[in-house]
Amino acid sequence: MKSIFNLVFTSCLVSSTLADLSIDTTSALTAAQWRCLAGNGLGRMGARVYTSDGAFDEVGIGNIFQSSTLNLEGYNAHIVPCVANCKNNLTSGASQAYAVVNRLDKEFGKYPQIHDGLLIFIQIDKSNNWSTDQKQNQQFVNDMINALYEVLETQYAVIITNYNSWSSIVGANFSVAAAPGLKWVNWNGKADLTSGWTPFGGWASPTAHQYAGGVTSNNCTTGIPLNYSYFDGNDFSKLRKDRKMIRRANTLKKFNRH
Ligand SMILES: *[C@@H]1O[C@H](CO)[C@@H](O)[C@H](O)[C@H]1NC(C)=O
Ligand SMILES: *[C@@H]1O[C@H](CO)[C@@H](O)[C@H](O)[C@H]1NC(C)=O
Ligand SMILES: *[C@@H]1O[C@H](CO)[C@@H](O)[C@H](O)[C@H]1NC(C)=O
Ligand SMILES: *[C@@H]1O[C@H](CO)[C@@H](O)[C@H](O)[C@H]1NC(C)=O
Ligand SMILES: *[C@@H]1O[C@H](CO)[C@@H](O)[C@H](O)[C@H]1NC(C)=O
Repeated sequence: MKSIFNLVFTSCLVSSTLADLSIDTTSALTAAQWRCLAGNGLGRMGARVYTSDGAFDEVGIGNIFQSSTLNLEGYNAHIVPCVANCKNNLTSGASQAYAVVNRLDKEFGKYPQIHDGLLIFIQIDKSNNWSTDQKQNQQFVNDMINALYEVLETQYAVIITNYNSWSSIVGANFSVAAAPGLKWVNWNGKADLTSGWTPFGGWASPTAHQYAGGVTSNNCTTGIPLNYSYFDGNDFSKLRKDRKMIRRANTLKKFNRH
């Protein structure tokens, strides 16, 4: 994996797709480390903000702040849904979605340069304790996405998954009616949206591709595991303009109805 990755990273450095790299990690990086990554082609950063334990991830929220002076194209806020034994007792997809948007508004509402660049990603992964009842899981995912779309005036979220996880958790052919984007996880070392892609879940093509994971050889952050994704910079800058998260006031107004 490492050697494949090194090859990819080297070719990234000399190609014209520099701005199409996004990196996420669950480790705390310093502002200097984010600056180093940005100097090596980082376009967007990703941060887990909610964990499968049913808790906010303060490390991820801290990473968004640490990277916020770099004029990145945007910030991917990852939710890992809690599907069993939730510390905060929020069990439904909707209640978790509201909690996350509320927290992000509180943290970043007064920083429009961050807030307007946030996109919500939901990680659907077999390693979490999903029910064996696919219908129940489908309902959970629909419920979370519908709730997000209700409180985000602009309706866009991205699901992070792959065929194996999706087919076992909700069934290969299940597609979310609200039509979120897909960040396709396939660590094949190919920084594109097409190599090895086979449609599932109603997605004709992915929005982004996580092509390497657990990479510890980046010399901005030696030893720290990072995940690398390719995205189409044009698509995402359009999203930033058209579908950015709404301003705090609107969101809070909607919350007050609940
Ligand atoms: C990315 O890497 C982290 C470790 O930093 C891991 O916990 C996480 O699940 C990975 N994300 C995805 C989408 O695979
Ligand atoms: C969750 O529910 C349990 C059992 O009712 C209770 O003991 C605990 O304090 C609750 N935790 C939170 C964070 O509300
Ligand atoms: C997974 O869920 C089952 C059924 O709810 C539960 O018995 C088990 O303890 C859970 N495991 C973890 C690691 O949460
Ligand atoms: C998914 O849909 C395709 C095309 O309709 C079908 O051939 C396939 O058997 C379905 N797969 C499952 C797991 O239902
Ligand atoms: C990072 O590693 C690459 C390849 O190993 C090397 O060419 C480059 O000089 C290193 N950069 C820094 C800042 O150490």
